[in-house]
Amino acid sequence: MSRDTLTHILDLARWAPSGDNTQPWRFEIVDDHLIRVHGTDTRDHILYDYDGHPSHIAHGALLETIRIAASGFGLTTNWTISSEGDDRNPTYDVSLAHSPTIVQDPLLPCIEIRTVQRRPMKTKPLTDTQRRALINAAGDGFHVQLFESWGDRMKVASLLWGSAKVRLTCPEAYPVHKEIIEWRARYSKDRIPEQAIGVDPATARLMEWVMQSWERVAFFNRYLLGTVAPRIELDLLPALCCAAHLLVRPQRAPEVLADWVHLGIAVQRVWLTATHHGLHLQPQMTPLIFRWYARAGRQFSSEPALFEQALKLSGDFEKIANATAKDDFGFFARVGISPVPQSRSIRQDLAALMKR
Ligand SMILES: Cc1cc2nc3c(=O)[nH]c(=O)nc-3n(C[C@H](O)[C@H](O)[C@H](O)COP(=O)(O)O)c2cc1C
Repeated sequence: MSRDTLTHILDLARWAPSGDNTQPWRFEIVDDHLIRVHGTDTRDHILYDYDGHPSHIAHGALLETIRIAASGFGLTTNWTISSEGDDRNPTYDVSLAHSPTIVQDPLLPCIEIRTVQRRPMKTKPLTDTQRRALINAAGDGFHVQLFESWGDRMKVASLLWGSAKVRLTCPEAYPVHKEIIEWRARYSKDRIPEQAIGVDPATARLMEWVMQSWERVAFFNRYLLGTVAPRIELDLLPALCCAAHLLVRPQRAPEVLADWVHLGIAVQRVWLTATHHGLHLQPQMTPLIFRWYARAGRQFSSEPALFEQALKLSGDFEKIANATAKDDFGFFARVGISPVPQSRSIRQDLAALMKR
């Protein structure tokens, strides 16, 4: 196949989602049949990138997006991982081949329009078709659990309210929040633009000022109920205003890199399927990531009380999901109908994503 075709495929694939829009990958066109993806992760400086697994999930989402994009050119893909025992810098070799029987994947038109909706959505319930499509989208090895009733959404809202307190009072999360927001922006190539985070302009200006230093954040949190306004806007209202919360549960605990990559494939299929069925989605991964830390007994903060809160929230989460401490949770999100967001993360140009 021509370089042009491979470039086209990568140009589409770069729209795959990644935590905080970090795009933990660089591309190399090795020859006319082989694309090499050089994966990275952000575990060294992003608290939420627990052992690099959210980045591994993004790698999986990218590989699935390459597969779907390639189907539009009558091509099949087959990927192999080589991590040489170190999952910090895995490489994925994606070989492409012509196939007379391949048909274009119906999810292809959704690749570029899929985007996060962080604002409140309509509470209109899922239709049977939407529900069935979401449950089947994750594929073999994954179970999709939906929380749809008002009572269930209240329970999830309470979980997110608690989790947001941990997030906003955690000194180790502060540099992440400071780094990932592009203030006063509608689009951002390598971060999340202010207008896509889901707060009104006045709250955004206050947040920008407060987030200049951790001392300001700590003072606000302590004396001025600083976490209340953002938690109402960013967590409580969105949690209530949606059609459902959705939990992807791997049937077998992910152990090796390939397991996380397969989870990422499932995540992207669920997200694109939601888009295909006219729904928006917002991942809400912090309760799930704090649970990873808590259930592994790993302190994630210099403030020991936060670990205790994360432990308690993990129990609450398990109660909501009718699960035990041993069960694995892979991806947590909310879905619903809403207008197309006016602001979104875009992507680095393809040239900047090519390995030098
Ligand atoms: C593994 C993973 C975890 C994510 N976690 C969150 C999250 O907790 N909250 C959130 O609002 N968005 C989350 N996102 C969405 C990303 O921020 C988003 O995909 C990225 O900024 C690109 O924006 P787009 O999806 O609108 O193109 C997550 C995405 C991935 C792949």
